[in-house]
This record gives sequence, C-alpha cells and structure tokens, in this order.
Amino acid sequence: MRGLPILLLSLALSVFVECQDNIPDVSLTPNMLSVNEGEEANFTCSPLLEEAPALLNTRNPGASQSQSIQNDDSRIRVTDISNNDTGNVTRMRVFTWINPILENDHRREFFCQIGSFESNTAILFVNHAPDITIGGETEFTVIAGATLNVSITVDGWPEPTLTWTRDGARVDLTLSKSGLSLPSVSLDDAGIYTLNATNAMSSDTGSFTVIVRSLPVFEVGDDARVSIRVGAEVVVNCAANAFPPISPDNITLTLDGKELELDSNFVHTIASAQTSDAGDYVCTATNELATESVTITVEIGNVPDK
Ligand SMILES: *[C@@H]1O[C@H](CO)[C@@H](O)[C@H](O)[C@H]1NC(C)=O
Ligand SMILES: *[C@@H]1O[C@H](CO)[C@@H](O)[C@H](O)[C@H]1NC(C)=O
Ligand SMILES: *[C@@H]1O[C@H](CO)[C@@H](O)[C@H](O)[C@H]1NC(C)=O
Ligand SMILES: *[C@@H]1O[C@H](CO)[C@@H](O)[C@H](O)[C@H]1NC(C)=O
Ligand SMILES: *[C@@H]1O[C@H](CO)[C@@H](O)[C@H](O)[C@H]1NC(C)=O
Ligand SMILES: *[C@@H]1O[C@H](CO)[C@@H](O)[C@H](O)[C@H]1NC(C)=O
Repeated sequence: MRGLPILLLSLALSVFVECQDNIPDVSLTPNMLSVNEGEEANFTCSPLLEEAPALLNTRNPGASQSQSIQNDDSRIRVTDISNNDTGNVTRMRVFTWINPILENDHRREFFCQIGSFESNTAILFVNHAPDITIGGETEFTVIAGATLNVSITVDGWPEPTLTWTRDGARVDLTLSKSGLSLPSVSLDDAGIYTLNATNAMSSDTGSFTVIVRSLPVFEVGDDARVSIRVGAEVVVNCAANAFPPISPDNITLTLDGKELELDSNFVHTIASAQTSDAGDYVCTATNELATESVTITVEIGNVPDK
C-alpha cells in the first residue's frame, strides 16, 4: 500500500512535464493595436512552427473566411475585413490587414492557433470617420403636445463628440441608442435640426426639419358661465390661436344657433345687456387640423354687477 502515493505523484509529474514540453508558447502580438481605416494592421503569431497558424475571430471562431487573401513570402494579407474575419495561411506568421474596415463596430478580438494551441487575445481597434444616419424622412410634421421620435445612428471611432443646432443656434439635446426623442413638442421646437459628429478622423453632419402644427386654442380657455345684471356690458372673446394661423373667416360666434358679428379682434360686445341677450354663446374655430369650440353661458338678471 505504501507505493500508491508515490505512483500518483510520479504520474502527476510526468503529465506536467509532458505539457511543458509540448505546448508551444503561442502568442499574438501586439495585444492591442489601433489603426485608421484604410491603413494596415499587422499582428504576429509566434513561434513560427511547421504547422500553419490560423487567425481566428473570437466572436465567430467557426466562420469560414470570406475575405480575399494574398500570400507573399512573408505574410498574409486579408482585405475587406468583415465581421467574420479569419485568416489561415501556411507557415506564415505575420497577419496584415490591408484597409481594415469593421462594419458597425470598431473593435475586434483575435487569437491565433497553432495546431490545437491558442494564443492570447489581441484587440484591433479601427478608427473611422463619423457617419450619421437619420432614419427615413428629413421632414417631420408633429402636432403640438405630441412626442417626436427620430431614429438616428452615429457610427465612428473614437466615439464622436456630438453637437446640435436648431436654426443655426446651439441646443442641448441628448441622443439615445434609438435616436432623438422630443417629448411634448411645442411651437418653439420647430426648425431645422443639425447634428454634427466629430472625432479625430473627421466630422459628419445630418439635418432634418421639424414642423409643428397646433390645434385651435381659445384665449378664454375653457367653457365659462357669467352672470351680469341688465344694462351691463357683455364682452365675448372668440380669439383663438393655432399654427398655421386660423383664417378670420374660420372663427365664428353663434347665440342659440344664430351667427353674430365679431370685430377684427374676434370680440363681440353688447354695450347694455338685455334679458334677451342671455344664452349660450358658442365660439367655433377651424384650422386644417380640427374644429374646436368653447361655450360662454351668459345669465342676465338682477344679480350684483361683477
Ligand atoms: C506590416 O508588415 C509588413 C511586413 O513586415 C511591413 O512592410 C509593413 O510596413 C507593416 N505595416 C505596418 C503598419 O506596420
Ligand atoms: C458571419 O457569420 C455568421 C454565422 O456564421 C453568418 O450568419 C453571417 O452571414 C456571416 N456574415 C458575413 C458578412 O459573412
Ligand atoms: C486553418 O487550417 C487548418 C489546417 O488546414 C484547418 O483545420 C482550419 O480549419 C483552418 N481554419 C480556418 C479558419 O480556415
Ligand atoms: C418615443 O421614444 C420614447 C423613448 O425612447 C418612447 O418611450 C416612446 O414610446 C416613443 N414614442 C413613439 C411614438 O414612438
Ligand atoms: C462640426 O464641428 C466641428 C468641431 O466643432 C467643426 O470643425 C466642423 O466644421 C463642423 N462641421 C460642420 C459641417 O459644421
Ligand atoms: C378653414 O376651415 C376649413 C373647413 O371649414 C378648413 O378646411 C381650412 O383648412 C381652414 N383654413 C384655415 C386657414 O384655417
């Protein structure tokens, strides 16, 4: 029974020694590289052994290689690098990308493999110029009070700095992953919006126009009830605002269905009220979006003058 621990120990030692002898110290250098789009990127896989090193994309190790490869005596050239970048070449150890372009991304991780031995992971950053994409339209029409969402994506590396202007003046807006959201739009939000994205490579701008329309809104606000005494003055104000502005013909006043005169300020004045002037005064305003109305109920009697 005394021999068993010794046997186990020697087994463990021999396994350890065997690994040390056979695992090549595979490395991919440098372990981080930043290049500009269009320039070259070199990674070296070492040591150079008889067996071909393969360069693999950690995201998609099994993907077949789609890019064109040109061999010369010393290196592999992978052009038109895409999201499934892999390289494989016989007995070459320098991997060179010509014109690296990473679609929708700026960062790719690679490792090389010699036989079944894998290297460390190396990261390739590709600097590229900002690119702004504004979804669909370039002109948005929105009704005041509604939320306007504009889908916008900004590509580019290093992360571009974003600045916004509206009709040429700086405005402070925040772009989320899905784009720009303008909640509860008001007439002041109308204008030409321009986004400028700038990084060390260059800058890009994108613009769109926001048109805000509003429903008719009466200056008097909501329906009202007024009580006055006989002989007092009655003033009914039908003025209403909207955008685009309401044409004068589109604002009317009726009393129990009969149309009444409005002055140029859309006001109807009765200098000395009689009991026959009592009733429901209905102001109606129509613009291209909607027809709105407000009712002012006038009561006339022996009540204290207000
Ligand atoms: C990439 O490697 C090749 C061959 O060693 C060399 O000629 C080229 O200058 C290298 N490019 C860069 C950007 O280091
Ligand atoms: C990348 O690989 C995935 C999975 O293998 C595949 O679905 C996709 O079409 C490939 N894309 C390109 C650009 O080759
Ligand atoms: C690289 O070459 C080896 C050996 O021929 C092969 O087994 C492996 O699948 C290749 N890898 C790629 C990514 O083509
Ligand atoms: C607009 O975007 C906001 C925030 O992303 C979201 O909560 C809202 O549902 C969106 N509204 C519309 C009309 O798409
Ligand atoms: C965008 O902003 C950058 C940095 O402020 C500026 O240099 C560039 O001229 C701007 N681009 C446009 C088209 O306004
Ligand atoms: C005037 O009212 C009509 C409907 O009666 C509407 O079609 C038109 O757009 C309105 N015009 C303005 C300028 O408000």
